[in-house]
Amino acid sequence: MPDSSVSTTRAGEITERRERVERRIRDLLDRMTLDEKVGQLNQVNGHDGGVTDELAHRVRAGEVGSILNEVDVRTVNELQRIAVEESRLGIPLLVGRDVIHGFRTILPIPLGQAATWDPELVRRGARMSALEAAGHGVRWTFAPMVDIGRDPRWGRVAECLGEDPHLAGALASAMVQGFQGEDLADPGSLAACAKHFAGYGAGEAGRDYNTTNIPEGELRSVHLPPFRAALGAGVATFMASFSDLNGIPASANRFLMTQVLREEWGFDGFVVSDWESIPQLCIHGLTADDREAGLAAATAGVDMDMVGEVYADHLAELVVEGALHEALVDVMVARVLRVKLRLGLFERPYTEPERFPVEPPPSHFALAYDAAVRSAVLLKNDEGLLPLAMDGIGSIAVIGPLAQEPQEQLGTWVFDGDPGFSITPLEAIGVLAAEGVHGPTGPVKVRYVRGLETTRSEDRWGLPEVVEAAGAADVALLFLGEESVLSGEGHCRSDISLPGAQEALIRAVRATGTPVVLVVMAGRPLALEAVLDKVDALLFAWHPGTMAGPALADLLFGRAAPSGRLPMTFPRVTGQVPIYHAHRNTGRPPTPETFVHMRDLPRGASQFSAGAASYHLDTHYTPLFPFGFGLTYTTFAYSDLQVTPARMATDGEVRVSVTLENTGERDGVEVVQLYVRDPVASVTRPVRELKGFRRVALEAGARRTVTFPLPAAALAFPGRDMQPVVEPGEIQVWVGGDAHTALGAAFEIVAP
Ligand code: BGC
Repeated sequence: MPDSSVSTTRAGEITERRERVERRIRDLLDRMTLDEKVGQLNQVNGHDGGVTDELAHRVRAGEVGSILNEVDVRTVNELQRIAVEESRLGIPLLVGRDVIHGFRTILPIPLGQAATWDPELVRRGARMSALEAAGHGVRWTFAPMVDIGRDPRWGRVAECLGEDPHLAGALASAMVQGFQGEDLADPGSLAACAKHFAGYGAGEAGRDYNTTNIPEGELRSVHLPPFRAALGAGVATFMASFSDLNGIPASANRFLMTQVLREEWGFDGFVVSDWESIPQLCIHGLTADDREAGLAAATAGVDMDMVGEVYADHLAELVVEGALHEALVDVMVARVLRVKLRLGLFERPYTEPERFPVEPPPSHFALAYDAAVRSAVLLKNDEGLLPLAMDGIGSIAVIGPLAQEPQEQLGTWVFDGDPGFSITPLEAIGVLAAEGVHGPTGPVKVRYVRGLETTRSEDRWGLPEVVEAAGAADVALLFLGEESVLSGEGHCRSDISLPGAQEALIRAVRATGTPVVLVVMAGRPLALEAVLDKVDALLFAWHPGTMAGPALADLLFGRAAPSGRLPMTFPRVTGQVPIYHAHRNTGRPPTPETFVHMRDLPRGASQFSAGAASYHLDTHYTPLFPFGFGLTYTTFAYSDLQVTPARMATDGEVRVSVTLENTGERDGVEVVQLYVRDPVASVTRPVRELKGFRRVALEAGARRTVTFPLPAAALAFPGRDMQPVVEPGEIQVWVGGDAHTALGAAFEIVAP
């Protein structure tokens, strides 16, 4: 059969399936009582195994539409049986769980996955997570979190996909595709949830749950695009943010939930509140009591109440009193039923655990290993210390509180992750030393010294032993950073330097004269300027997950090469944040000529003896490492940047191409990045914006042309009237290995 008829048949099937779903929704709504309708909008917390009488009663009475945090498959099936067989209409439950970066097998934290710049790997990771979770009765995950993270003090940057809307959007789509699979009705698929709509990442001072003030243009060009991308990939649900947006908390924000999401974007799935974010509308100071809060959330467009019990307690009464139209309740219920029907829950309410592997198969660990390898970012490598050349090394000192921590290497949000599966760096290095790598005098000797009780310990009693071990070794491998509890929800920091006595530990090791490799595991970018000149090599590993050990050992010993690139800008010191590549220029941008550090100001300097430009006196104005940065064991050169044609219409497309050459001695992977700037526009635009990227594997000495299509539509931005506009004029273009790349060109957009 020719392709076109295949696609016509497929389109026909989709339309027919859609119509069937809508017919069933209408039929159910016709038969539902008001209380049963409200029940569908109510999500309750599970009890971690076992069906309580109260929960059974509520499910039987049709008072519950969804349950979260129940992953005992027998309990899930029993609850489902009560819903399907004992409730009047037999509507199945939707069971949700935070499956954020793996389920049993743990992948790198999402920010680490973002550092792979590898959408296909991210998709496969989400697919794996879905299969593991679905075997436990879960059919809905509260992921991906696509909030833009530009303030590393915020603990939840660990869960986000970085600072950049283009990168986050590409990876969010990949995650959605992975979780939801080819067909939501496949028992191994999870409905995904794009969260937290919207602006949650912009909380003032990087404090979780904090107020956000985001002008609409900024919202539309920075915070909303990754959500739009997730929707483009078919995301089934959205979650409202906890945060207050410009005076109207997201959970009561009609502009977000109805105008943007439904009217502009045409979303037809449902929106769930965040945990008790509806009753919290009173705490915000928006509503006087829960009844008002329920009315505000429902009329704004929030369909399901997560745990708040506000809809359960007040929606029916609001309808009876005439404050809320039942027709609106019907719309809300229809959205929930639509997702349940799309998931095939009516046909297959029960989980058949035997369809899924009991324990993660080897392929899952292999994928977790690949993701951990690709997420690590090599930030410094003086004199090519890495990969460790074993012919000169007889002994290694492995030092630090994170070298042997099966739980900490997993990071935040690992409800179901099993640290029993973890392989730690110390274990993996031990295996390599015993079996694989040999120094000049036989197997390499490995000595481990923890040094500090935790990453937060101020107590220095362990440092003498650290110094002794480092002094006696040929190389010191330091595993430092943050334990998992220092990032994640509600875990923000005001100072993002290495906590506790870790800087002192690094200084002590440095003083021994032994070469130092610092491996950082952390849930956020850290401010590492104070220690950078005290280490010879720096590998930033995030929280790499189950397979941290083998991945890091292989990177350190050269069995794999680093290919991660920073998904967030790394500041020198905390006071620089928020610092991100796509900032606007200001009228007084700092330059080498205008910048003066305060130590260089003469005594009695007058007010304008410094440059009167936009920088801090006590640090440099550049970050420590720019967005997109990362080294590897070879080098790459870029040349011959071309844009063709040199002029395009406002609805046209150009092609940007560059020659990439591997100029080193080893094969390697480069992440080629395309940036643009619109230097004169009706609304000031960022100095650089990422518009494309590609991971390119290149053999030593090889060259390749890399080409990016750049359609005019990708250059559209919200104009003064908030409508997307592509304006005629010059567009500057850069291609290279990070956001500071200098290889540039330009082309012109002309009016049609
Ligand atoms: C978080 C959500 C999460 C929910 C359910 C909330 O506290 O903000 O991201 O999905 O809890 O666990």
